[in-house]
Amino acid sequence: MLDEKLIPSNTDNNYAPLPDGSDSPASRRSPTKVLLVALCGLVMVGVLLASMGCNGGSSRDVHAKTGGDGDVEASLPNSKEAATAIPHMPISRGVSAGVSEKSNHQFLRGAASFPWNNSMLSWQRTAFHFQPEKNWMNDPNGPVFYKGWYHFFYQYNPHAAVWGDIVWGHAVSRDMIHWLHLPLAMVADQWYDINGVWTGSATILPDGQLIMLYTGSTDKHVQVQNLAYPADPNDPLLINWVKYSGNPVLVPPPGIGARDFRDPTTAWYTSEGKWRITIGSKVNKTGVSLIYDTEDFKTYNMIDGMLHGVDGTGMWECVDFYPVSIIAENGLDTSINGQGIKHVVKASLDDDRHDYYAIGTYDEKTAKWVPDNPKIDVGIGIRYDYGLFYASKTFYDQNKKRRVLWGWVGESDSEAADVRKGWASLQSIPRTVALDQKTGTNLIQWPVEEVESLRLTSKNFDNVKVTPGSVVPLDVGTATQLDILAEFELDKDAVHNTAETNGEFSCTASGGAAQRGALGPFGLLVLADESLTERTPVYFYVVKGNDGKLKTSFCTDQKRSSQANDVNKIIYGSFVPVLDGEKLSLRILVDHSIVESFAQGGRTCITSRVYPTKALYGDARVFLFNNATETSITGSLKVWQMNSAFIRPFSNNRSL
Ligand SMILES: *[C@@H]1O[C@H](CO)[C@@H](O)[C@H](O)[C@H]1NC(C)=O
Ligand SMILES: *[C@@H]1O[C@H](CO)[C@@H](O)[C@H](O)[C@H]1NC(C)=O
Ligand SMILES: *[C@@H]1O[C@H](CO)[C@@H](O)[C@H](O)[C@H]1NC(C)=O
Repeated sequence: MLDEKLIPSNTDNNYAPLPDGSDSPASRRSPTKVLLVALCGLVMVGVLLASMGCNGGSSRDVHAKTGGDGDVEASLPNSKEAATAIPHMPISRGVSAGVSEKSNHQFLRGAASFPWNNSMLSWQRTAFHFQPEKNWMNDPNGPVFYKGWYHFFYQYNPHAAVWGDIVWGHAVSRDMIHWLHLPLAMVADQWYDINGVWTGSATILPDGQLIMLYTGSTDKHVQVQNLAYPADPNDPLLINWVKYSGNPVLVPPPGIGARDFRDPTTAWYTSEGKWRITIGSKVNKTGVSLIYDTEDFKTYNMIDGMLHGVDGTGMWECVDFYPVSIIAENGLDTSINGQGIKHVVKASLDDDRHDYYAIGTYDEKTAKWVPDNPKIDVGIGIRYDYGLFYASKTFYDQNKKRRVLWGWVGESDSEAADVRKGWASLQSIPRTVALDQKTGTNLIQWPVEEVESLRLTSKNFDNVKVTPGSVVPLDVGTATQLDILAEFELDKDAVHNTAETNGEFSCTASGGAAQRGALGPFGLLVLADESLTERTPVYFYVVKGNDGKLKTSFCTDQKRSSQANDVNKIIYGSFVPVLDGEKLSLRILVDHSIVESFAQGGRTCITSRVYPTKALYGDARVFLFNNATETSITGSLKVWQMNSAFIRPFSNNRSL
């Protein structure tokens, strides 16, 4: 139980819910402190807020997908209009309630839906990725290791396979792979979260107490931060949760839109003995992370300025902030600071629905963070994953001294198909995340080692030569649940003889695996049927630059992943650093409708959702392919069949 002495009676609650959510509510903190001055003085991000008029505004404007990597642009006027204008158009979900769009708007333009049948749809359910028994899931919430159990909470709609009525789902595991579903942890039962128990984070205090901070959407759709804690701290399953009687503990400060204030981070300790958190927001088009200090998690002081902000990046959701070591392999507790440490800032950009991170330096005194390289700043540089991966959150796993990353992996088929399936969304396989000490400029992500406990039989393929323009079947039997490790070498003479070019290659702008170059594409075809009418290439594409150096991209091409037309077929990918002397390496986890791929030990990652109509059950195969025109490649692989994790409800008569 949270020390009740720390909980003051809620006497200073001058919070006034807004009539229409279009204005900033009065702050519980002394309004004489003109926080706006701090916000308005954002010289660091080149933004000058002249007056009180810098209200970030409500999120009523339905945002459009930017189409940055090929997403279909969907600029919707508003849900009602849209629904009447075009009958096929799915309704907008989330935006009018004050969060980002949760519907898949890709199949608006009258694409006739494919005649999916039940066996195809039920095949899409995964075997070793976390998903609830049914209905809609989105962001990971408050992941934590507590009294021998990994806890996972998640944004959940108990009523339907589409976003809405959001509460906290809850599951526990000994290994982050085998999960037991528990009852809902928190439901929308208070005025301050009646429109949604939204995303939040866990903090473990030095004495072992656990607290949760989460965003509630109030009866007036104002985004406020709330405190909750376990009803019985001795219960390792943390079944029951208590919401603090003085909630909300934070409301949007002056100058911040009532619907632009969400997703508190895990708190970290300052050398002054206070706890510090950051919360994502925006000021006009500048994405920002506001920063607060607290001693008791009930009253907070907003710090002048902000942790960081980047012009033009829009609303920052699900900000994450954590230290990484430049020396040690292990992960670091969120409060660790000092020599040999860099800090990561991650924001989930509401405008393009991608998770961007940057590595930099945090100054505790000024409560500011600066990126190592201003060109690789948050929201304009690198991403955790170049596929479908959003609203992620890390936690420090004190059990195995590692930092673990969870990310929400949505569906990229039609909403109508999700409703028929009765479920929507997965979580990525949890990934350890650490600084890449070889490059120093990116993180390394890798599936937690526990996933290897699912490996069954394996087959090795050593030094398989694949000539230009050919495909080699890999006889691994059924290929719907696989863990694949592969290494490739290019032909040295071909590389030497290849002409230099100043042409830039981009996976997303390319023609995919059908675009042949001298030194690529080559890699694997997963979820392919025997005749290759359906296939999902996961591959490298190498270009020899003007300086004679090779530049490597890592891509996934969904163009021919399905004969259905109502599924996402875009090409994902990005650059991947390859250092001198390194072979090209990749790992792929195939689990029915999800393909998670990691290049060069996890420097560049791509998560893809694919929905084949033929390459399923016993008809799914895997092939090596080389569509380069000049180089042959030599591949060595190990391919495991993967067991199912049999994720199921917790039953009381199971022994712990
Ligand atoms: C934010 O937008 C408002 C309305 O367009 C404008 O008046 C204000 O100057 C803008 N602030 C900044 C810092 O651009
Ligand atoms: C679903 O359709 C596929 C392809 O047409 C067919 O092979 C399969 O038997 C069908 N399954 C059911 C249950 O109808
Ligand atoms: C290789 O490229 C050719 C020509 O663009 C294309 O027809 C073929 O489908 C590609 N092969 C694979 C495996 O994608």
